[in-house]
Order: sequence, then C-alpha cells, then structure tokens
Amino acid sequence: MAEVVIVRDAEEGGEVAAGLLARVVAADPEAVLGLATGSTPLTTWAALAARGLDLSRVRGFALDEYVGLPPGSPQSYRATVQRDIVEPLGLDPERVRVPGDDGPLEGAGERYEAAIRSAGGVDLQVLGIGTTGHIGFNEPGSSLASRTRVKTLTEQTRRDNARFFGSADEVPRHCLTQGLGTIRDARRLVLLAWGAGKAEAIAGAVEGAVTASCPGSAIQLHPEVTVVVDEQAAAGLRYADYYRHAWRHRHELG
Ligand code: F6R
Repeated sequence: MAEVVIVRDAEEGGEVAAGLLARVVAADPEAVLGLATGSTPLTTWAALAARGLDLSRVRGFALDEYVGLPPGSPQSYRATVQRDIVEPLGLDPERVRVPGDDGPLEGAGERYEAAIRSAGGVDLQVLGIGTTGHIGFNEPGSSLASRTRVKTLTEQTRRDNARFFGSADEVPRHCLTQGLGTIRDARRLVLLAWGAGKAEAIAGAVEGAVTASCPGSAIQLHPEVTVVVDEQAAAGLRYADYYRHAWRHRHELG
C-alpha cells in the first residue's frame, strides 16, 4: 500500500514533497525528475526553491503537453514548465523536456520514451490528479500499460482547465501524455492532491479497485509511492486514521 501523508494544507504538503525531492537530488545531483504541471504542485516547487539547493544539473521530463496550441502559447506546458519550475528552481532549460518539443507529432511518443530511457529513467515522478481520476492526461479507459501517446481529453478535464484559458472552448481537445506504464516505470511516485474536489479521485486511486476506469489507481501497482493529501482531499479515505497513525510512528522503525 502507498504511504499516505495527511497534512493540514497545500503549504504543509508542499514541504513534505519538497523534502522527498531534496533527498533524491542530494543522493544524485543529476537526478531525473518527472514534472507535473497544473496548480497542485505549485507549493512543492515554492518549498523546494526556498531550500536554495543547486539544481542546475537535475534533468526533467514533463508528464504531458497540449496538442494544437499556437507556438509560444503561455498556456502550453512548455511555457508553464519554464515559468513555474525551471526559472524558480534554477534548472537548466536544456535539461528539461516536454513531450513533442523535438519535432512532429508523429512519432513524438516513441521519441519521448526513448529520451526517458536514455536518461536512465525517472527517479522521482511528481503527480497531481484530475477530478476524472486522471494522472498525466490518462483519462478513464487508459490502459494500465500505456506509453507516451496522443490522447483525447474528457470534456470534464477541459472544463476543469478552463481557468488557465479564457474559456473551456479554448482548451485543446488533444494532448500528448506519458502513459500509465511510463509513469509506473519511475523509481518513485509522489501523488499530491488538495481540496474537496479531489476527494473522490483520491479515494478511488488509493483504496479503490485497480482499474482503467480510475487511472490514478495504477499507483497501487507501484512499490514506492507517497500520497500527500490535505484533510479535504483525504475525506473519502476509509483508512485515514490508520495513515495518520502510521505517519506519527514512522520514526520508530529507525
Ligand atoms: C499536469 C497533469 C494533470 C494534473 C491534474 C490536476 O501535468 O498531468 O494530471 O496534475 O489535471 O491538475 P491541477 O493540479 O491543476 O488540479
């Protein structure tokens, strides 16, 4: 079972996640990080930036990218990664990849998989979760073994992401996303969620059946997962008291 850490709020959760990231980078200054975009990881990037570590040799692979936005669009994940992650953390932009950033859409998934492989794989993958249960942009029905490929976003996800655009109509219909198999190949996963809107998706991902109908449940197939959630996002967890108990007593095992 995943380690589940229930925190007061996104700030405290960001500190917990930043601690995990800092440990990976301390062990290997050239560590390969899997980068989620969206609003959830923002407190993690801020907490990591505040530690003032030298992250200039870290390598990064974004989880996903929209298809069909005009080049240079501020809503693209290329631009978002640059603004929210590369600049505040002092990463080297040359060492950070986003799906589809190296040529035509055709073959982009295979090229991205090859790039991750030649970097030696992802050491730690940061994940958010959508209200549909998606991780990356693997919407319900995605194969648990899927690799980086083009997907169609659900209308729910387009509505959820309308806040980054003028309206839901402006959110692209398609994306390139790491697959659930790609995500599961990372050595460690950290899944973050804040707020009541994520409670159902978190309950499904952490305690529901492992099923393509809740893509987040793919984390249950991974041996090294930490789920960091605030009280609201934890509201649907049946074993919440046990997770709190285990976290309180974690140091006793040395
Ligand atoms: C982003 C990503 C998505 C988001 C999810 C939650 O790269 O892959 O799975 O993590 O849609 O988005 P926020 O954090 O904006 O609620």
